[in-house]
Amino acid sequence: MKTIIANFKMNPSSIEEAKQLLELYKQEGKKNQNVDLIVAPPFLYLSIAKQFNLELAAQNCFYEDQGAFTGEISPLMLKDLGVHYVIIGHSERRQLGETNEMISKKIQAVLRNHLIPILCVGETQQERKEGKTQEVLKIQLEQALLPNKDYLLQAEKIFIAYEPVWAIGTGDFCDPREASETMEFIKNVIVSHFDIRISNLIMIYGGSVDSKNIDNFLKQVEINGVLVGGASIKKEELVKILAIANSY
Ligand code: 13P
Repeated sequence: MKTIIANFKMNPSSIEEAKQLLELYKQEGKKNQNVDLIVAPPFLYLSIAKQFNLELAAQNCFYEDQGAFTGEISPLMLKDLGVHYVIIGHSERRQLGETNEMISKKIQAVLRNHLIPILCVGETQQERKEGKTQEVLKIQLEQALLPNKDYLLQAEKIFIAYEPVWAIGTGDFCDPREASETMEFIKNVIVSHFDIRISNLIMIYGGSVDSKNIDNFLKQVEINGVLVGGASIKKEELVKILAIANSY
């Protein structure tokens, strides 16, 4: 069974459209029961999404449980709502100034509240050109996870999403075999540092996944699933993506 995580990002722009999209996910989720489907709408639509009986992820969260933090959403609130997953360290958030230190604190807050983190890592085009991919990934993983060793030991599951920054929203997806090799590297970094059971580590690829290329990603044994951005809010695409994933 493979995992599909639908990251709506900052879409759609009305509650009505969000409801239509969520209704389609509900229907397609029922049709394709051999898919671990996780939907990540904007915070504002999470409580609406709850009514559609979908497994939900938040796209971010803060690292404190409550207090004077204007504009932030805590993992405690997400948990109370029935959200089980939180995407942490997405490159679009890193570009807005989120540091590895903040990401590490967020991972801790998520694990402390017994939620499941989806940690995103990935190199930029420049870093890739300079042959620094592995070095960058290792730093991102170590800085996010090392301070949380104790929490990780007790974690039910953690998801690592390899999302090369140059592949996000560009149509220029990573070669699936190359992605798979990089994900094996990521797995080795984690296993070398942590006493984590491999079965608790879920490896996800993200970056320009669509109905045409998804099959080649899901074919790779190292790849447990995909994180879909742009295609996740296109109705025809999401129907095809879930049908293909259902055959694994
Ligand atoms: P795209 O699928 O639009 O490239 O986005 C990927 C992504 O960032 C998922 O989190």
